[in-house]
Amino acid sequence: MRIDLFHMERTQCLYENAVEFNLSESGVLPMQVQELLDGARDPGWLHALRLKYPASNGSETLRERIALFYGNAGRDNVQVTNGGSEANYVAFWGLLEKGDRVAVMIPNYLQTWGLARAFAGHADPFRLVERREGGRGSKREFGRAGASGGRPAGASDGGGARWALDVDSLERAVTKKTRVILVTNPNNPTGAVLNEEEMDAIVRAARRVNAWIVADEVYRGAEVCRDGEISRDAGVPGPTSPTFWGRYDKVLITAGLSKAFGLPGLRIGWIVGPAKTVARLCSYHDYLTLTPTYLSDRFAEIVMEPTRREAILARTRGIIRRNLPRLESWIRTHDDIFSYLPPRAGAIATIGYNLPIGSVALFDRLRLERSVLVTPGAHFGIGRYIRIGYGYDVEYLLNGLARIDETLDELKRGRARRGARPRRSPGPRRRRAAAAGRQSRRGLSRVTA
Ligand SMILES: Cc1ncc(COP(=O)(O)O)c(C=O)c1O
Repeated sequence: MRIDLFHMERTQCLYENAVEFNLSESGVLPMQVQELLDGARDPGWLHALRLKYPASNGSETLRERIALFYGNAGRDNVQVTNGGSEANYVAFWGLLEKGDRVAVMIPNYLQTWGLARAFAGHADPFRLVERREGGRGSKREFGRAGASGGRPAGASDGGGARWALDVDSLERAVTKKTRVILVTNPNNPTGAVLNEEEMDAIVRAARRVNAWIVADEVYRGAEVCRDGEISRDAGVPGPTSPTFWGRYDKVLITAGLSKAFGLPGLRIGWIVGPAKTVARLCSYHDYLTLTPTYLSDRFAEIVMEPTRREAILARTRGIIRRNLPRLESWIRTHDDIFSYLPPRAGAIATIGYNLPIGSVALFDRLRLERSVLVTPGAHFGIGRYIRIGYGYDVEYLLNGLARIDETLDELKRGRARRGARPRRSPGPRRRRAAAAGRQSRRGLSRVTA
Protein backbone atom coordinates (compact mmCIF):
# COMPACT_ATOMS: atom_id res chain seq x y z
CA MET A 1 0.00 0.00 0.00
CA ARG A 2 1.38 3.38 -0.99
CA ILE A 3 1.07 6.27 1.45
CA ASP A 4 1.80 10.01 1.13
CA LEU A 5 4.87 11.38 2.85
CA PHE A 6 3.73 12.85 6.19
CA HIS A 7 5.74 16.04 5.68
CA MET A 8 5.13 17.55 9.09
CA GLU A 9 6.21 14.57 11.15
CA ARG A 10 9.09 13.63 8.83
CA THR A 11 10.65 17.09 8.94
CA GLN A 12 10.07 17.38 12.67
CA CYS A 13 11.75 14.01 13.24
CA LEU A 14 14.68 15.05 11.05
CA TYR A 15 15.31 18.49 12.52
CA GLU A 16 13.89 18.86 16.04
CA ASN A 17 17.15 17.75 17.68
CA ALA A 18 19.36 19.47 15.12
CA VAL A 19 18.32 23.08 15.88
CA GLU A 20 19.07 25.39 18.79
CA PHE A 21 15.46 26.56 19.08
CA ASN A 22 12.75 24.03 18.51
CA LEU A 23 9.48 26.00 18.40
CA SER A 24 7.63 23.21 16.60
CA GLU A 25 6.29 21.40 19.69
CA SER A 26 2.53 21.45 20.08
CA GLY A 27 2.23 20.38 23.71
CA VAL A 28 3.28 21.84 27.04
CA LEU A 29 6.49 21.14 29.00
CA PRO A 30 6.20 17.42 29.75
CA MET A 31 5.64 16.39 33.36
CA GLN A 32 8.36 14.67 35.36
CA VAL A 33 7.77 11.18 36.75
CA GLN A 34 8.11 12.56 40.28
CA GLU A 35 5.34 15.13 39.65
CA LEU A 36 3.15 12.32 38.45
CA LEU A 37 3.84 10.15 41.47
CA ASP A 38 3.46 13.03 43.90
CA GLY A 39 0.62 12.15 46.27
CA ALA A 40 0.26 8.66 44.79
CA ARG A 41 0.91 5.48 46.76
CA ASP A 42 4.48 4.93 48.04
CA PRO A 43 6.58 4.88 44.83
CA GLY A 44 7.97 1.54 46.06
CA TRP A 45 5.07 -0.07 44.21
CA LEU A 46 6.80 0.95 41.01
CA HIS A 47 9.90 -1.08 41.84
CA ALA A 48 7.86 -4.20 42.48
CA LEU A 49 5.97 -4.13 39.19
CA ARG A 50 6.39 -7.11 36.92
CA LEU A 51 6.70 -5.99 33.32
CA LYS A 52 4.18 -8.41 31.95
CA TYR A 53 1.79 -7.99 29.05
CA PRO A 54 -0.96 -5.59 30.01
CA ALA A 55 -4.60 -6.06 29.04
CA SER A 56 -4.63 -5.69 25.26
CA ASN A 57 -7.22 -2.91 25.19
CA GLY A 58 -5.97 -1.18 28.38
CA SER A 59 -6.65 -2.07 32.03
CA GLU A 60 -10.23 -1.95 33.27
CA THR A 61 -9.37 0.85 35.69
CA LEU A 62 -7.78 2.93 32.97
CA ARG A 63 -10.67 2.44 30.56
CA GLU A 64 -13.19 3.29 33.30
CA ARG A 65 -11.31 6.49 34.10
CA ILE A 66 -10.97 7.50 30.45
CA ALA A 67 -14.72 6.94 30.07
CA LEU A 68 -15.34 9.41 32.92
CA PHE A 69 -13.69 12.16 30.84
CA TYR A 70 -16.61 11.79 28.41
CA GLY A 71 -19.53 11.70 30.82
CA ASN A 72 -21.94 9.13 29.49
CA ALA A 73 -19.48 6.38 28.51
CA GLY A 74 -18.36 3.11 30.12
CA ARG A 75 -15.22 1.02 29.90
CA ASP A 76 -16.57 -1.04 26.99
CA ASN A 77 -16.64 2.16 24.97
CA VAL A 78 -12.87 2.58 25.33
CA GLN A 79 -9.85 1.07 23.63
CA VAL A 80 -6.39 2.18 24.76
CA THR A 81 -3.79 2.65 22.01
CA ASN A 82 -0.17 3.71 21.65
CA GLY A 83 -0.64 7.45 21.23
CA GLY A 84 -3.38 9.43 19.54
CA SER A 85 -1.77 8.69 16.21
CA GLU A 86 -2.37 4.95 16.62
CA ALA A 87 -5.95 5.69 17.64
CA ASN A 88 -6.44 7.54 14.34
CA TYR A 89 -4.71 4.77 12.42
CA VAL A 90 -6.84 2.00 13.91
CA ALA A 91 -10.06 4.00 13.49
CA PHE A 92 -9.42 4.71 9.80
CA TRP A 93 -8.12 1.21 9.09
CA GLY A 94 -11.19 -0.34 10.69
CA LEU A 95 -13.75 1.98 9.10
CA LEU A 96 -12.56 2.48 5.54
CA GLU A 97 -12.73 0.40 2.37
CA LYS A 98 -11.23 1.24 -1.03
CA GLY A 99 -13.62 3.48 -2.93
CA ASP A 100 -14.92 5.26 0.21
CA ARG A 101 -14.35 8.97 0.62
CA VAL A 102 -13.34 10.89 3.74
CA ALA A 103 -14.20 14.56 4.35
CA VAL A 104 -11.25 16.07 6.27
CA MET A 105 -11.16 19.39 8.10
CA ILE A 106 -8.38 21.64 6.75
CA PRO A 107 -6.14 23.06 8.14
CA ASN A 108 -5.18 19.99 10.09
CA TYR A 109 -2.62 17.57 11.37
CA LEU A 110 -2.44 15.73 8.06
CA GLN A 111 -2.00 12.20 9.40
CA THR A 112 -5.69 11.55 8.77
CA TRP A 113 -5.47 13.08 5.27
CA GLY A 114 -2.73 10.59 4.37
CA LEU A 115 -4.55 7.68 6.03
CA ALA A 116 -7.77 8.53 4.20
CA ARG A 117 -5.97 8.54 0.86
CA ALA A 118 -4.21 5.27 1.67
CA PHE A 119 -7.19 3.29 3.04
CA ALA A 120 -10.06 4.80 1.05
CA GLY A 121 -8.29 6.38 -1.91
CA HIS A 122 -10.01 9.77 -1.62
CA ALA A 123 -9.95 12.67 0.80
CA ASP A 124 -12.12 15.77 0.34
CA PRO A 125 -11.27 18.97 2.21
CA PHE A 126 -13.68 21.17 4.11
CA ARG A 127 -12.37 24.29 5.72
CA LEU A 128 -11.98 26.43 8.72
CA VAL A 129 -11.73 30.03 7.50
CA GLU A 130 -10.86 33.29 9.22
CA ARG A 131 -14.17 35.01 9.70
CA ARG A 132 -15.59 37.88 11.66
CA GLU A 133 -18.17 36.70 14.22
CA GLY A 134 -21.63 36.75 12.63
CA GLY A 135 -20.15 37.35 9.14
CA ARG A 136 -19.69 35.09 6.13
CA GLY A 137 -16.39 36.57 4.96
CA SER A 138 -13.41 34.42 4.21
CA LYS A 139 -9.84 35.21 5.10
CA ARG A 140 -9.39 37.26 1.95
CA GLU A 141 -11.87 39.83 3.17
CA PHE A 142 -9.66 40.58 6.13
CA GLY A 143 -6.31 40.77 4.43
CA ARG A 144 -3.32 40.92 6.73
CA ALA A 145 -3.08 42.95 9.89
CA GLY A 146 -2.01 46.41 8.91
CA ALA A 147 -1.76 45.48 5.23
CA SER A 148 -5.28 45.81 3.88
CA GLY A 149 -6.62 47.55 6.94
CA GLY A 150 -9.28 44.82 7.10
CA ARG A 151 -8.35 43.70 10.59
CA PRO A 152 -7.13 46.33 13.04
CA ALA A 153 -3.35 46.40 13.36
CA GLY A 154 -2.24 45.01 16.70
CA ALA A 155 -5.45 43.08 17.08
CA SER A 156 -4.05 40.19 19.07
CA ASP A 157 -7.57 39.54 20.32
CA GLY A 158 -8.42 38.75 16.70
CA GLY A 159 -10.43 41.94 16.27
CA GLY A 160 -13.68 39.96 16.67
CA ALA A 161 -12.66 37.35 14.10
CA ARG A 162 -12.17 33.62 14.56
CA TRP A 163 -11.41 30.47 12.61
CA ALA A 164 -14.92 29.34 11.75
CA LEU A 165 -16.37 26.32 9.95
CA ASP A 166 -17.09 27.01 6.29
CA VAL A 167 -20.39 25.14 6.15
CA ASP A 168 -20.62 25.44 2.34
CA SER A 169 -17.34 23.59 1.91
CA LEU A 170 -18.57 20.94 4.38
CA GLU A 171 -21.72 20.45 2.32
CA ARG A 172 -19.64 20.09 -0.86
CA ALA A 173 -17.17 17.66 0.73
CA VAL A 174 -19.78 15.30 2.20
CA THR A 175 -21.34 13.13 -0.50
CA LYS A 176 -23.10 9.76 -0.67
CA LYS A 177 -19.67 8.09 -0.81
CA THR A 178 -18.42 9.77 2.36
CA ARG A 179 -17.81 7.13 5.00
CA VAL A 180 -16.02 9.32 7.56
CA ILE A 181 -16.01 13.02 8.46
CA LEU A 182 -12.79 13.87 10.28
CA VAL A 183 -12.68 16.85 12.62
CA THR A 184 -9.84 17.92 14.85
CA ASN A 185 -11.39 19.86 17.69
CA PRO A 186 -9.76 21.83 19.26
CA ASN A 187 -7.98 22.26 15.97
CA ASN A 188 -4.31 21.84 15.18
CA PRO A 189 -2.79 24.22 14.01
CA THR A 190 -5.22 27.10 14.65
CA GLY A 191 -6.31 26.30 18.21
CA ALA A 192 -9.88 26.97 17.06
CA VAL A 193 -12.80 25.36 18.89
CA LEU A 194 -16.07 24.69 17.06
CA ASN A 195 -19.16 26.32 18.52
CA GLU A 196 -22.43 24.46 19.11
CA GLU A 197 -23.92 25.50 15.74
CA GLU A 198 -20.84 24.23 13.93
CA MET A 199 -20.85 20.93 15.81
CA ASP A 200 -24.54 20.56 14.90
CA ALA A 201 -23.73 21.26 11.23
CA ILE A 202 -21.15 18.45 11.24
CA VAL A 203 -23.59 16.03 12.89
CA ARG A 204 -26.29 17.00 10.34
CA ALA A 205 -23.90 16.41 7.43
CA ALA A 206 -22.92 12.99 8.85
CA ARG A 207 -26.56 12.01 9.44
CA ARG A 208 -27.49 13.06 5.89
CA VAL A 209 -25.21 10.38 4.39
CA ASN A 210 -25.00 7.97 7.34
CA ALA A 211 -21.25 8.66 7.76
CA TRP A 212 -19.08 8.25 10.83
CA ILE A 213 -17.66 11.25 12.61
CA VAL A 214 -14.10 10.69 13.80
CA ALA A 215 -13.30 13.54 16.19
CA ASP A 216 -9.64 13.91 17.11
CA GLU A 217 -9.91 15.66 20.48
CA VAL A 218 -6.30 15.32 21.60
CA TYR A 219 -6.14 19.05 22.50
CA ARG A 220 -9.35 18.99 24.54
CA GLY A 221 -8.52 20.11 28.08
CA ALA A 222 -5.78 22.57 27.02
CA GLU A 223 -8.04 25.61 26.77
CA VAL A 224 -6.90 29.20 26.94
CA CYS A 225 -10.45 30.02 27.96
CA ARG A 226 -10.60 33.77 28.21
CA ASP A 227 -13.81 35.46 29.35
CA GLY A 228 -15.57 32.11 29.85
CA GLU A 229 -15.71 31.65 26.06
CA ILE A 230 -15.87 27.88 26.22
CA SER A 231 -18.95 26.34 27.72
CA ARG A 232 -18.79 23.86 30.58
CA ASP A 233 -18.88 20.27 29.46
CA ALA A 234 -21.71 18.18 30.84
CA GLY A 235 -20.51 16.29 33.87
CA VAL A 236 -16.94 17.55 33.67
CA PRO A 237 -16.03 20.43 35.93
CA GLY A 238 -13.83 23.14 34.42
CA PRO A 239 -13.78 24.95 31.13
CA THR A 240 -13.11 21.91 28.92
CA SER A 241 -14.18 22.23 25.26
CA PRO A 242 -17.33 20.31 24.34
CA THR A 243 -16.85 16.78 23.01
CA PHE A 244 -18.55 15.13 20.04
CA TRP A 245 -19.25 12.12 22.25
CA GLY A 246 -22.98 11.67 22.78
CA ARG A 247 -24.08 13.92 19.89
CA TYR A 248 -24.67 11.17 17.32
CA ASP A 249 -24.59 7.34 17.25
CA LYS A 250 -21.72 6.93 14.81
CA VAL A 251 -19.00 8.89 16.60
CA LEU A 252 -15.47 7.77 17.37
CA ILE A 253 -13.37 10.03 19.57
CA THR A 254 -9.60 9.76 19.29
CA ALA A 255 -7.40 11.41 21.91
CA GLY A 256 -4.64 10.72 24.40
CA LEU A 257 -2.18 12.07 26.92
CA SER A 258 0.30 13.75 24.57
CA LYS A 259 -1.01 17.31 24.33
CA ALA A 260 -3.50 18.52 26.94
CA PHE A 261 -1.92 16.29 29.60
CA GLY A 262 1.72 17.08 28.81
CA LEU A 263 2.71 13.39 28.76
CA PRO A 264 3.73 12.55 25.17
CA GLY A 265 6.40 10.09 26.32
CA LEU A 266 3.82 7.74 27.82
CA ARG A 267 2.47 7.16 24.29
CA ILE A 268 -1.03 6.60 25.63
CA GLY A 269 -3.95 7.28 23.31
CA TRP A 270 -7.50 6.00 23.10
CA ILE A 271 -10.58 5.51 21.01
CA VAL A 272 -14.01 6.09 22.52
CA GLY A 273 -16.94 4.75 20.50
CA PRO A 274 -19.94 2.44 20.44
CA ALA A 275 -19.01 -0.79 22.29
CA LYS A 276 -19.57 -3.03 19.25
CA THR A 277 -17.37 -0.91 17.02
CA VAL A 278 -14.67 -0.61 19.68
CA ALA A 279 -14.64 -4.42 20.01
CA ARG A 280 -14.25 -4.72 16.24
CA LEU A 281 -11.41 -2.20 16.19
CA CYS A 282 -9.58 -4.24 18.87
CA SER A 283 -9.21 -7.01 16.33
CA TYR A 284 -7.36 -4.56 14.05
CA HIS A 285 -5.15 -3.46 16.95
CA ASP A 286 -4.23 -7.16 17.37
CA TYR A 287 -2.34 -6.89 14.08
CA LEU A 288 -0.54 -3.71 15.07
CA THR A 289 1.00 -3.21 18.51
CA LEU A 290 -1.39 -5.55 20.33
CA THR A 291 -1.28 -3.73 23.68
CA PRO A 292 -0.21 -0.45 25.25
CA THR A 293 3.01 -0.68 27.26
CA TYR A 294 2.59 -1.98 30.78
CA LEU A 295 4.24 0.94 32.61
CA SER A 296 2.35 3.54 30.59
CA ASP A 297 -0.93 1.82 31.32
CA ARG A 298 -0.16 2.02 35.08
CA PHE A 299 0.91 5.68 34.89
CA ALA A 300 -2.15 6.54 32.82
CA GLU A 301 -4.41 5.09 35.54
CA ILE A 302 -2.94 7.69 37.90
CA VAL A 303 -3.30 10.51 35.37
CA MET A 304 -6.94 9.79 34.58
CA GLU A 305 -8.14 9.55 38.17
CA PRO A 306 -10.62 12.46 37.99
CA THR A 307 -9.13 14.71 40.69
CA ARG A 308 -5.62 14.17 39.41
CA ARG A 309 -6.79 14.59 35.81
CA GLU A 310 -8.24 18.00 36.58
CA ALA A 311 -5.06 19.06 38.43
CA ILE A 312 -2.94 18.06 35.43
CA LEU A 313 -5.20 19.94 33.02
CA ALA A 314 -5.04 22.97 35.36
CA ARG A 315 -1.22 22.78 35.12
CA THR A 316 -1.47 22.79 31.31
CA ARG A 317 -3.86 25.74 31.26
CA GLY A 318 -1.64 27.62 33.68
CA ILE A 319 1.34 27.23 31.33
CA ILE A 320 -0.75 28.28 28.34
CA ARG A 321 -2.19 31.36 30.05
CA ARG A 322 1.20 32.46 31.35
CA ASN A 323 3.07 32.01 28.06
CA LEU A 324 0.58 33.16 25.45
CA PRO A 325 0.69 36.90 26.37
CA ARG A 326 4.49 36.83 25.96
CA LEU A 327 4.15 35.36 22.49
CA GLU A 328 1.40 37.85 21.64
CA SER A 329 3.62 40.78 22.64
CA TRP A 330 6.11 39.57 20.06
CA ILE A 331 3.40 39.07 17.45
CA ARG A 332 2.31 42.70 17.95
CA THR A 333 5.81 43.89 17.06
CA HIS A 334 5.17 42.57 13.53
CA ASP A 335 1.72 44.01 12.99
CA ASP A 336 2.80 45.34 9.61
CA ILE A 337 3.17 41.78 8.22
CA PHE A 338 1.33 39.42 10.57
CA SER A 339 -2.29 38.41 10.82
CA TYR A 340 -3.18 36.45 13.91
CA LEU A 341 -6.28 34.93 15.47
CA PRO A 342 -5.63 33.81 19.05
CA PRO A 343 -5.96 30.09 19.79
CA ARG A 344 -8.92 29.00 21.94
CA ALA A 345 -7.00 25.89 22.99
CA GLY A 346 -3.60 24.24 22.62
CA ALA A 347 -0.12 25.63 23.17
CA ILE A 348 0.07 26.51 19.47
CA ALA A 349 -0.45 29.78 17.62
CA THR A 350 -0.83 30.09 13.88
CA ILE A 351 0.31 33.36 12.34
CA GLY A 352 -0.31 34.53 8.78
CA TYR A 353 2.39 36.70 7.19
CA ASN A 354 2.49 39.03 4.23
CA LEU A 355 5.96 38.49 2.78
CA PRO A 356 7.06 37.26 -0.65
CA ILE A 357 8.17 33.82 0.53
CA GLY A 358 6.32 30.51 0.73
CA SER A 359 5.91 28.86 4.11
CA VAL A 360 8.26 25.94 3.38
CA ALA A 361 10.95 28.31 2.06
CA LEU A 362 10.58 30.45 5.19
CA PHE A 363 10.72 27.34 7.40
CA ASP A 364 13.94 26.24 5.61
CA ARG A 365 15.50 29.67 5.96
CA LEU A 366 14.76 29.88 9.66
CA ARG A 367 16.12 26.40 10.18
CA LEU A 368 19.29 26.79 8.12
CA GLU A 369 20.17 30.43 8.84
CA ARG A 370 18.86 30.85 12.42
CA SER A 371 18.71 27.30 13.76
CA VAL A 372 15.03 27.78 14.64
CA LEU A 373 12.36 25.19 13.86
CA VAL A 374 8.78 26.34 13.31
CA THR A 375 6.06 24.50 11.37
CA PRO A 376 5.08 25.85 7.94
CA GLY A 377 1.44 26.38 6.93
CA ALA A 378 1.94 24.05 3.97
CA HIS A 379 2.30 21.14 6.41
CA PHE A 380 -1.29 21.74 7.52
CA GLY A 381 -2.76 22.35 4.05
CA ILE A 382 -2.68 26.17 4.19
CA GLY A 383 -0.44 28.82 2.64
CA ARG A 384 1.60 31.64 4.14
CA TYR A 385 1.36 30.82 7.82
CA ILE A 386 3.72 29.55 10.46
CA ARG A 387 2.76 27.67 13.59
CA ILE A 388 4.67 28.41 16.76
CA GLY A 389 4.51 26.23 19.86
CA TYR A 390 4.61 28.23 23.09
CA GLY A 391 4.07 25.60 25.79
CA TYR A 392 7.70 25.14 26.86
CA ASP A 393 10.18 27.48 28.57
CA VAL A 394 9.12 31.03 27.78
CA GLU A 395 12.65 32.53 27.86
CA TYR A 396 13.78 29.90 25.37
CA LEU A 397 10.76 30.81 23.25
CA LEU A 398 11.61 34.52 23.32
CA ASN A 399 15.23 33.83 22.35
CA GLY A 400 14.03 31.76 19.40
CA LEU A 401 11.62 34.51 18.37
CA ALA A 402 14.46 37.05 18.44
CA ARG A 403 16.25 34.89 15.87
CA ILE A 404 13.12 34.90 13.72
CA ASP A 405 13.15 38.74 13.92
CA GLU A 406 16.47 38.82 12.10
CA THR A 407 15.07 36.92 9.11
CA LEU A 408 11.82 38.87 9.09
CA ASP A 409 13.76 42.15 9.08
CA GLU A 410 15.86 40.95 6.14
CA LEU A 411 12.74 39.93 4.26
CA LYS A 412 11.02 43.26 4.99
CA ARG A 413 14.11 45.19 3.82
CA GLY A 414 14.20 43.05 0.66
CA ARG A 415 10.55 43.77 0.04
CA ALA A 416 11.08 47.51 0.51
CA ARG A 417 14.06 47.45 -1.88
CA ARG A 418 12.13 45.50 -4.49
CA GLY A 419 9.32 48.02 -4.22
CA ALA A 420 11.81 50.85 -4.89
CA ARG A 421 13.97 49.34 -7.67
CA PRO A 422 13.31 47.63 -10.99
CA ARG A 423 13.34 43.79 -10.68
CA ARG A 424 16.60 41.97 -11.33
CA SER A 425 16.79 38.44 -12.60
CA PRO A 426 17.02 36.07 -9.61
CA GLY A 427 20.40 34.74 -8.49
CA PRO A 428 20.92 31.04 -7.74
CA ARG A 429 19.88 31.43 -4.10
CA ARG A 430 16.63 33.18 -4.98
CA ARG A 431 15.99 30.61 -7.70
CA ARG A 432 16.37 27.85 -5.10
CA ALA A 433 13.98 29.67 -2.72
CA ALA A 434 11.45 30.08 -5.54
CA ALA A 435 11.73 26.37 -6.35
CA ALA A 436 11.10 25.54 -2.68
CA GLY A 437 8.03 27.79 -2.79
CA ARG A 438 6.73 25.96 -5.88
CA GLN A 439 7.33 22.66 -4.13
CA SER A 440 5.28 23.83 -1.18
CA ARG A 441 2.44 24.96 -3.46
CA ARG A 442 2.44 21.53 -5.12
CA GLY A 443 2.10 20.00 -1.65
CA LEU A 444 -0.74 22.36 -0.90
CA SER A 445 -2.54 21.69 -4.16
CA ARG A 446 -2.33 17.97 -3.41
CA VAL A 447 -4.26 18.75 -0.25
CA THR A 448 -6.70 21.17 -1.77
CA ALA A 449 -7.30 19.35 -5.05
C1 LIG B 1 -4.40 16.48 16.08
C2 LIG B 1 -3.36 15.48 16.47
N1 LIG B 1 -3.70 14.20 16.60
C3 LIG B 1 -2.82 13.26 16.95
C4 LIG B 1 -1.50 13.60 17.17
C5 LIG B 1 -0.51 12.52 17.55
O1 LIG B 1 -0.60 12.31 18.92
P1 LIG B 1 0.33 11.27 19.69
O2 LIG B 1 1.64 11.95 19.92
O3 LIG B 1 -0.42 10.98 20.95
O4 LIG B 1 0.46 10.07 18.82
C6 LIG B 1 -1.08 14.92 17.03
C7 LIG B 1 0.33 15.28 17.21
O5 LIG B 1 0.76 16.39 16.99
C8 LIG B 1 -2.04 15.89 16.68
O6 LIG B 1 -1.72 17.18 16.56
